[in-house]
Amino acid sequence: MIVEAKHLQKRFGPIVALDDVNIKIPEGLTLILGPNGGGKSTFMKLALGLYRPTGGEIRLLGRNPWKEANVRKNVGVSFDPPALPKFVSGREWLSFLAEAKGVDAEEEIAKVSEMFNMGAFLNRRIDRYSSGMLKRLSIAQAFIGEPKVVFLDEPLANIDFESAGQIISILAEKKEGGTSFIVISHIWEPFMELADYVVVLSAGKVYLAGGAEEVRGSLEKLFKSPKSFHRGLS
Ligand SMILES: Nc1ncnc2c1ncn2[C@@H]1O[C@H](COP(=O)(O)OP(=O)(O)OP(=O)(O)O)[C@@H](O)[C@H]1O
Ligand SMILES: [Mg+2]
Repeated sequence: MIVEAKHLQKRFGPIVALDDVNIKIPEGLTLILGPNGGGKSTFMKLALGLYRPTGGEIRLLGRNPWKEANVRKNVGVSFDPPALPKFVSGREWLSFLAEAKGVDAEEEIAKVSEMFNMGAFLNRRIDRYSSGMLKRLSIAQAFIGEPKVVFLDEPLANIDFESAGQIISILAEKKEGGTSFIVISHIWEPFMELADYVVVLSAGKVYLAGGAEEVRGSLEKLFKSPKSFHRGLS
């Protein structure tokens, strides 16, 4: 299993962000869907060991990510909104990450720069990037060092049509090569073709989870009418 949660709970003071979440995320590509505030990004941060569960437990590649930071060596992550330093160039930021991971910076940067078409702006200071450039850099960072598991929070936010297509094909290619993905996205349809497993988190609970083919019908119903979606989810 890539991620396994048992009776997972996360509270922020009075806010219950996740409540009694039980899921087993297998290898391959998993899509996490659900309305705003559903708990998706919180789940990702718990899986990465950035947050400590209030209750229950979470495992990443069979280990406790809060206690065994080492497990993160196998992981890449892109946050939403992109969390990047302002006053360095994209290249300097990627170098920093490559060095922290102990991989060859020049080689890794060349690879991801080509993958995400970043040559034109990689040497510019990050505070001068457009939203789409920020997004591309933040996705590229997740691929530094060829991690086994890649977490992407809203990879298509602020991305133009053409780049969205490119990102989907990169995921398809990397998935073919054995990388597992956990993708959080409101724009879910383009990922369905690649998805092996789907989890819908709503109001901190698992509303639906299962194999992509198995849940396709329920998902289509859920998203067809936003009204019934929210009624169904409340
Ligand atoms: N650091 C935090 N401190 C306090 N409350 C938080 C924090 N992070 C998240 N929350 C709350 O936890 C709940 C779940 O938030 P989360 O960001 O996980 O949702 P999400 O599913 O990612 O939503 P979105 O689709 O809007 O990104 C929300 O009510 C949110 O306000
Ligand atoms: Mg979120």
